[in-house]
Amino acid sequence: MIVRAAVLAASADQPADYPADGLPQVAFAGRSNVGKSSLINALLGRRRLAHTSRTPGRTQRIHFYRINDAFHFVDLPGYGFAQVPLEVKRRWGPMVRTYLERSTQLVGVVQIVDLRHPPSREDRQLRDWLVEYRRRHWVVATKADKVTLNRRATHLREIAAGLALAAEDDAALLPVSSVKRQGLEAVWDALLPFLAPDAGCDRG
Ligand code: GTP
Ligand code: MG
Repeated sequence: MIVRAAVLAASADQPADYPADGLPQVAFAGRSNVGKSSLINALLGRRRLAHTSRTPGRTQRIHFYRINDAFHFVDLPGYGFAQVPLEVKRRWGPMVRTYLERSTQLVGVVQIVDLRHPPSREDRQLRDWLVEYRRRHWVVATKADKVTLNRRATHLREIAAGLALAAEDDAALLPVSSVKRQGLEAVWDALLPFLAPDAGCDRG
């Protein structure tokens, strides 16, 4: 995937501010600090396009990154971190649900979980919403570099069970390390069929 151009097209907290350019969108969702922004940057080969930080809950709006003038990567605000102010926590659910329900350009959602831990109540809640709104989704288990190869299969099984992924969903559970740049190709393979074929996203 050759990224020629990647720009922040919009930061929105309501549908009126979502880009209305008809380009397909893939959204990235998960707990605060799980590594959403890092995954977006790693996939795009950009160091700091999507803001990453050690301070959880920094991404409190929906950020739309327009890639090659062909599609959007959408960085959704994270959930479930104790230090996040109550006001931010209250707004998260409606903001994300509204986007999942109303976006007309959303073609799929990458749900990001931490490969080290079983899914949380909120991870299961997000998965339920994706099913409820009939959104195509893939589960990416990130920070794979922090789990030994021996343990990975066990952790992946626990995640699949915790999120009630069906056996036929197995291909949709992808281990990744954004830091070590492992597993990114498999994520692209999953996403590319749903991004415009004339996207200029020639494989690099
Ligand atoms: P919010 O925007 O606050 O919700 O967080 P986020 O989900 O965007 O997480 P972010 O990408 O900012 O990453 C949080 C922390 O995890 C940073 O310190 C990253 O360097 C680290 N991190 C992200 N991905 C990986 C990974 O694959 N491996 C390791 N070891 N660390 C990672
Ligand atoms: Mg972020």
